[in-house]
Amino acid sequence: MSAPLYEGKSKQVFAGDEPGTYLIHFKDDATAGNGEKHALLDNKGVLNAAISNLIYDYLAKNGVPTHLIKVINETDVLVKAAKILPLEVIIRNVAAGSFSKKYGVPEGNELKSRVVEFSLKDDGLGDPMLSPSHILALGLATEEEIFDVTVQALKVDELLIALFDKAGIRLIDFKLEFGKTDDGKIILCDEISPDSCRLWDAGTNEKMDKDRFRRDLGNVMDYYAEVLDRLKKVL
Ligand code: TMP
Repeated sequence: MSAPLYEGKSKQVFAGDEPGTYLIHFKDDATAGNGEKHALLDNKGVLNAAISNLIYDYLAKNGVPTHLIKVINETDVLVKAAKILPLEVIIRNVAAGSFSKKYGVPEGNELKSRVVEFSLKDDGLGDPMLSPSHILALGLATEEEIFDVTVQALKVDELLIALFDKAGIRLIDFKLEFGKTDDGKIILCDEISPDSCRLWDAGTNEKMDKDRFRRDLGNVMDYYAEVLDRLKKVL
């Protein structure tokens, strides 16, 4: 296979066979702490691809435009080419992670309303948080694009809360990335998986996501496999 056009921490992006497409390969690499911690987790690429593909299919059926065109094999998908907005869009339903640390709110505390948070996709700068006016000032997106991304992210949140609820899982928070196609449409890109979401068991509040890796809680892939099993049962 030819060299990737782009290699990220957990995925490679290649030119697709058809014009206007990319092929994304999900890797087994896991990183945390801005790349300081790294491991190969056997089967992670397969599990994340399977989970993300199920979710993207569900979102598309419910009216969310996504990049996914077709699944090629266990670890590879063909997607629409899009210029990725340099933004991480984080939605928080429950306090956890950096929000808990920054604002001194215990993890697991319910929030009075959902948080929509933006940060700059730049590991060198430590992904600093952005307000909409920062995004405009830096020319990262237009006002209309910020609105579009926010509306889509909140819709994804509602759809995912309902889906995970059926699977006995609480959706605590998650990160999305969006891209702009040649015809100027904003579509959901990247992945949605236990790498990019906090997922807690609804009965026990056990963590079923990448925090198991970040915090050395063990059995990381067993929990990813459990997330996949439960999603398969409800989709
Ligand atoms: P945070 O609490 O560390 O800010 O993370 C919020 C959510 O976003 C959590 O589900 C993990 C996810 N996330 C990523 O997928 N990639 C990232 O680079 C960051 C900072 C967070």
